[in-house]
Parts: sequence; C-alpha cells; structure tokens
Amino acid sequence: MSEMKRYPVDPEFAVKAHIDNAKYLAMYEQSIKDPDAFWGEHGKRLDWFSPYSRVKHTSFDPHNVDIRWFEDGTLNAAYNCLDRHLEQRGDQVAIIWEGDDPSESEKISYRDLHERVCRLANALKAKGVEKGDVVTLYMPMIPEAAVAMLACARLGAVHSVVFGGFSPEALANRIEGAASRLVITSDYSRRGGKVVPLKANVDEALADPAAARYCKKVVVVKRTGGELAWHDHRDLWYHEITAKASIECPAEELNAEDPLFILYTSGSTGKPKGLEHTTGGYLVYASMTHEYVFDYREGDIYWCTADVGWVTGHSYIVYGPLANGATTLMFEGVPSYPDNSRFGRVIEKHRVNQFYTAPTAIRALMQQGEEVLGDADLSSLRLLGSVGEPINPEAWEWYHRVVGQGRCPIVDTWWQTETGGIMIVPLPGATDTKPGSATRPFFGVQPALVDNEGNELEGAVDGNLVIKDSWPGQSRSIWGDHERFVQTYFSTFKGCYTTGDGARRDEEGYYWITGRVDDVLNVSGHRMGTAEIESALVAHPAVAEAAVVGYPHSVKGQGIYVYVTLQAGFAASDELMKALRHWVRREIGPIASPDLIQFAPGMPKTRSGKIMRRILRKIAEDDFGSLGDTSTLADPSVVDDLIAKRLNRW
Ligand code: WTA
Repeated sequence: MSEMKRYPVDPEFAVKAHIDNAKYLAMYEQSIKDPDAFWGEHGKRLDWFSPYSRVKHTSFDPHNVDIRWFEDGTLNAAYNCLDRHLEQRGDQVAIIWEGDDPSESEKISYRDLHERVCRLANALKAKGVEKGDVVTLYMPMIPEAAVAMLACARLGAVHSVVFGGFSPEALANRIEGAASRLVITSDYSRRGGKVVPLKANVDEALADPAAARYCKKVVVVKRTGGELAWHDHRDLWYHEITAKASIECPAEELNAEDPLFILYTSGSTGKPKGLEHTTGGYLVYASMTHEYVFDYREGDIYWCTADVGWVTGHSYIVYGPLANGATTLMFEGVPSYPDNSRFGRVIEKHRVNQFYTAPTAIRALMQQGEEVLGDADLSSLRLLGSVGEPINPEAWEWYHRVVGQGRCPIVDTWWQTETGGIMIVPLPGATDTKPGSATRPFFGVQPALVDNEGNELEGAVDGNLVIKDSWPGQSRSIWGDHERFVQTYFSTFKGCYTTGDGARRDEEGYYWITGRVDDVLNVSGHRMGTAEIESALVAHPAVAEAAVVGYPHSVKGQGIYVYVTLQAGFAASDELMKALRHWVRREIGPIASPDLIQFAPGMPKTRSGKIMRRILRKIAEDDFGSLGDTSTLADPSVVDDLIAKRLNRW
C-alpha cells in the first residue's frame, strides 16, 4: 500500500535546514505550553512602530468569540514588505514577473516596488481613499496586483481581491457586500493566449445599482491596450494617475488588529463570506510559515503558482515572501501554454529553488507522461510544495520523481482561507513524509479529531478536524457579520475552531486530510459551495429545482454533478443543457461550470421535503449499491429513475 511508504528526511537537507526534528519538537512544545512567550519572541521578526506588550488575547467561547494578537502593537504591512528591506536589499529583485507570453518577463527590485507602491498609494489618497476604506481588486496576475495590495496596506485601506475568473454578477455581490468605494482592474487579462475583458466585466458589475451605490471610481491598468468603453466620470487610467504622483508616501501607523484584507470564500450555506484578516498576527504567521515551511534562505528564488485571487496568492506570493525579503515569482500564464513544458521552462529560466503548486496541476501534467517538462533543467529545485486539495499518493510520487527528480522534499501544506497560513505540514528538515499525508502541525497549531457529537477522539482514528486554540494568522471575523463567523466556525464543536474538513490520524500522529465534511466542493483546488451553484441554477426560468454534488474526477479532484428538475412546459434537451452550463458560467464564473447535468423528474426527498444529498452523492459516484436506507423517502421510486439515467458510469 502506498500509504505505508515513507520518505525519511535527507540528513544533508536537515543539517542545513532552519528546523530539524529536535528543534521542531522543542519549539512545538514551547508554542503550545507558553504561547505568549513563543509568539512574543517570534513576533519580533517584524518591524513594529510601537512594540506590543500583550501577545495572545483569544477566546473561542461561542458566547464571546474574540481573537486578538499583539493587540497594543502598531505596524504597517507594506512597511514590513518594502521599506525595511531598502537599506540592505534595495537592488535585490523582489518580484520576477513571467508573462503569459514566454517572451515577456520583468524583474522588479525592492526599491522599484517601493516606488510603485508609494506612487499608487498617493494616487489613491488623492482620489479620497482613506484608512478603513475597502478597495476591490479584480486583476490579472501582473505586478500591479501586488502593487495595489501593498498600496492599500500602506494607507490602511482594506483590500478585497476578487479572482479574475469570477463573473460580473459575482463581482457585483462582493463590491456590494464589502461596501467597496473603488475598484482596481485592468483592461483585459491574458491567460493561455486568450484574453478576458476584465474592465467590461467591471462595467457590467457596476450596472447593478446595488454595487454602483458604493463604488464611484474604477482604476484601470492597461495590459493589452484592447478596445474599451470608457466612463469619464468614473474611470481612471492607472498610468495617468500614478505618473505624477510622488514616490514619498509615509506608511500609516496601524494597530496590529486593524484589518489588512478581506477575502471572499465559499461555505456550505448562503452567499460567499468575506473573511477578515488583520495586520500583525497575519503577517507574523505568513512570514514565519513561509520561511520555515519552504526552508527559505537568502538569495533563493521562490515560485508559488497560485493566483492572487486566492488566499495562497495573498500569503505565499505577496505577504509572506516579501515580508521575508525574498524573491517571489509571479506567473501570468497557465501550465499548458504555449505547451505543457511551460512549468519546466520557467523553473529553468529563472533558476527556481522552491516550487509550490496544486495537485490538480500535477495531475494534469502527469496525464501527459514523464517527458512532459521536456528537457528543462530542473537542477535548481530544492523543495516542492502542494496546496489546495488532498494530493493522491500517485500524484505525490510522480511529483517527487519527475519534477523533484527524487531529490526534493515535498511539503504537503494543509490550510484554509480562514487560517491565513499553513497549519499542518511536514517541515522539510524535520518530518519524514508519507505520500498523501500533510503530517504534523505547525508551531502553535493544536489539531484534534472529534466525533459528530463533539467528543474528542484519541489515537489512530477518523474524525472531524478541529483546532483547539488560536494561532496568530487566524481570521478574526466575517466582514460585517460577526454572528455568522461565530455560527459557522465556533458553534458546532464548542470551544474549537471547526475546519469543515475530515481527517484521519495514524499511529504516529500524522494527519491525513480526507476532504470536506460539509457541502463545499473543491474543484481543481477552487473552493465552491454547492448552495451557490444551486441558487444560480434555480434562477434560470427552466429550472424548478437543482441539487449539486461532487464526484471524483481524475484531474480536477472533484467534478460538479448537477441534478435538475425542470419547470412544467420545459423539456430536457442538449440545447437546454448547454444553456444551463452557460448560465452558471455567467452567474458565478467558468470555474463553477457543471461537468455533468442530469435531468431528473424528481429528487429523493424525505417526507418533510428535504433533499437527501447522501443518495445523490452515491449515484454521482456510481456507487449506488450502497445507498443505505431509502425507506424514509417520500417517493422511493425516484431513486430507480435517477440510477437508470445516471451519467457517470465507470
Ligand atoms: C482543502 C486553500 C488536503 C481543504 C489554502 C480546505 C487541502 C480547503 C489541502 C481550503 C491539503 C487545502 N490537503 N486538503 N494540503 N489544502 N485543502 O480556503 O478541504 O481555498 O478546507 O484555502 O482546501 O481551501 P481554501
């Protein structure tokens, strides 16, 4: 069984690594026994304008969820990512930008990045942006995305990055939800040789009065120079407003608990929620995990392939690496353009040392065979990382053998938008790895497994993964809805943070994440609520009822399986199926596009009218031999029809 396979830490790696096993054990113990002393010490990795005297002040009591770290300290995240490096490494490259087109790339030094951030911050200030205002970023993977995040941070404005693949509708909801006053976007984005009209999407989002009520200005980066509609009263060219802006802009002195950003993510119910992260604890945690997990050392070239629209891009393209004075690579394109060897070519071109990507990308490459990276020279690589979804042992082994050439440790990093940074992970000089296991907790993280009643389980066992106490990177609230934050994360298992994931712990105490235990899908590492897709579908005139479940997909991890009951007067057809797919792409974005749509005359419901998703899931998985008890259904015969017409036959 591949689960039994074990890759011991390479002693040579351990000798040079920041953390070896003895150090891990000692530091972990201290972090749990005396978090105040531990984090009090590690908080010093940042530059504080005025130092903190209090470290941890946190409560997971559902009657009073209150999370504060370093609460009387003041600092600025942009100052920590830029200014403090200028003297020592002003000329060092901060960002290597690699364009979608392999002939385009750019190296931006810390000094240059600092200037760009100050210019934009001044330009935004001149347009009335102040501390506490929310600025929405709807950007491609271009340096201006990082510049815009840091410019907001510099002013104490709160950025809300919306992934560039989301639809105008989804963007409008997020602008409205955050009462955002300004949007920064680009004319078009380029990915895989195709262009997406980002600015036109913003125009469409702002045609919605609910969003336009808040958002009065749109700043536009010229990326492709393509045709645009322009609204003089509202639209501003990025290059024009920054051209004359000063390169001096003092960094605002912020409290550790002032918000740094909000980031929308999906849950099992309702609309996506804007998780709030604050300044001090988040940055301490992002920078410390970046250094130790990737064993980052001075001069390394580090590449995380995520998009800045997701939390991985926030913590491990921008904030963690830049706080550490690292060189971070930002890639505009996709692994398959101009051909499947692109990842290899970029690693070779920029002599990448640490490479951090998602299992879905690994599986897509794996399908192309062992030669997929061509003859690219991968000898610069020292470490590989994985994030976003469980990595199956086959993909792990392939990653290790083909990309890592059998020589690079793999860090399988489990974490979430809510956690701010990596939580369960093998530290590369400390922890023997087992393919498919995220292994052991990072410092200060206390995972536990509980049964459905909330009883803590001991030993080697399966259960719901919870975290028993706070860590500095944790989200503090849901923007504008603290009650929902408490309900979602702290009311199911009292006194614990509920992750929504299931996990197994083995005899050695290693954690194996088994996937979501709620109605959240993970499609190609993108997190999506089934409820969101369902509500998009029922908004279509032909749809009476919709139920969405996940099913195992060889590349995406999970695929989206949709059951639809039509309104009277509508008939199932291929055209309608296409129309529904198109509709979901329009309402949410291409990432939510259903893989399989089954027209169903009826849904399996309990007598009280609740759809039994367990049954739908089993049918989607082509595993209907074990449907369990269907006798409580209002009409058990619908199940036979669903099985007969199932789409996913293996
Ligand atoms: C899943 C992404 C297994 C998990 C950083 C989690 C993982 C959700 C892993 C969060 C991993 C993330 N192994 N599952 N290494 N990393 N997940 O908020 O289900 O986009 O709850 O954050 O992704 O997704 P999110």
